[in-house]
Amino acid sequence: MPRLPILSVLGVALLAPTAIFAAAGDLTEITNFGRNPTNVQMFVYKPTRLASPPPLIVALHWCSGTAQQMFSGSQFANIADQKGYIVIYPDAPEAGQCWDVHTKATLTHDAGGDSLAIAEAVRYAIKEYGVDKKRVFATGLSSGAMMTNVLMGAYPDLFAAGSAYAGVPYGCFEGPDMWQPQCANGQLIKTAQQWGDQARAGYPGYTGTRPKFQTWHGATDSVLYPQNFFEQIKQWTNVLGISSTPTSNLTNTPVANYWCATFGNGQLQANFANGVGHEIWYREGDVLDFFGLSSLTPAPGPGGEGPGPTLPPVAQWGQCGGINWTGSTACVSPFVCTVISEWFSQCK
Ligand SMILES: *[C@@H]1O[C@H](CO)[C@@H](O)[C@H](O)[C@H]1NC(C)=O
Ligand SMILES: *[C@@H]1O[C@H](CO)[C@@H](O)[C@H](O)[C@H]1NC(C)=O
Repeated sequence: MPRLPILSVLGVALLAPTAIFAAAGDLTEITNFGRNPTNVQMFVYKPTRLASPPPLIVALHWCSGTAQQMFSGSQFANIADQKGYIVIYPDAPEAGQCWDVHTKATLTHDAGGDSLAIAEAVRYAIKEYGVDKKRVFATGLSSGAMMTNVLMGAYPDLFAAGSAYAGVPYGCFEGPDMWQPQCANGQLIKTAQQWGDQARAGYPGYTGTRPKFQTWHGATDSVLYPQNFFEQIKQWTNVLGISSTPTSNLTNTPVANYWCATFGNGQLQANFANGVGHEIWYREGDVLDFFGLSSLTPAPGPGGEGPGPTLPPVAQWGQCGGINWTGSTACVSPFVCTVISEWFSQCK
């Protein structure tokens, strides 16, 4: 096991601010979701009211973070209560709680590593929860942002878009160790073609649509140096087949001291935060805008137009999920909605 001196520092820098709005429900662990060679733990947040069909966001924690911290420290779950998408929070199995973004297995489609478990959880959610397979997204912070880059390269068939906060390009950490200092320090420079070739090698022969990509970085980041932001722009403009000259570049956007550059027809959006270090934090609304989920609403509830009343939680032994289930997915405390089969989840 390589030593990871910097990771505890990372964790401290990225501890989530206290959540102001709590999600209405709890995280539920899902097991037996498919191939999981590295024992990634998987947790799901399913709001009571779902859009029909519901989109899915995979939200990836930072080094030393956990699924639970990503759940309570970001706003994706409580916004899901209003919009009706599902969130999956994977939890890294490695000591140090960093994602494996360096092995050949994790970097390659269906070859293993942490990325395979995440891909299998997405497939499971499509089958089990009726997730809209055209609206599956990934986002992450730091190590989670590196994994977001990895997923866009190795599983472009599964994701419509990704959003990376303080990450590195797909493949930048490739090698024997969990930490790749040359990449982290912004000294791994490649041409757009080289980065593009590397990302395409994540899924050889793939010819389908490539995910849209949004990236964010602090200009004074000294953990994953900002050069990694510019290397990501090279990589994804090449993969997406669009010019690396932005079609627009707005200063003080989306907030003072940031600039926001758009490439192609919006397939790539790059946000650079002057005066901000590695602790750049989520702007969930801008992520949801980029994913096209801002105007999403839950399916009409019983008895009328528009969002229905919040459904009451289900009692012990009652149904709380399954293919095309439109009733409540929350259970009366202390019961937990447990998957029995793809047709039937039960409060027990
Ligand atoms: C966008 O504009 C800012 C401010 O003028 C500039 O520093 C930055 O390099 C521009 N970004 C791109 C990708 O051209
Ligand atoms: C679920 O609902 C969709 C949309 O109404 C329908 O096309 C599909 O056949 C249903 N699936 C099952 C398994 O009943």
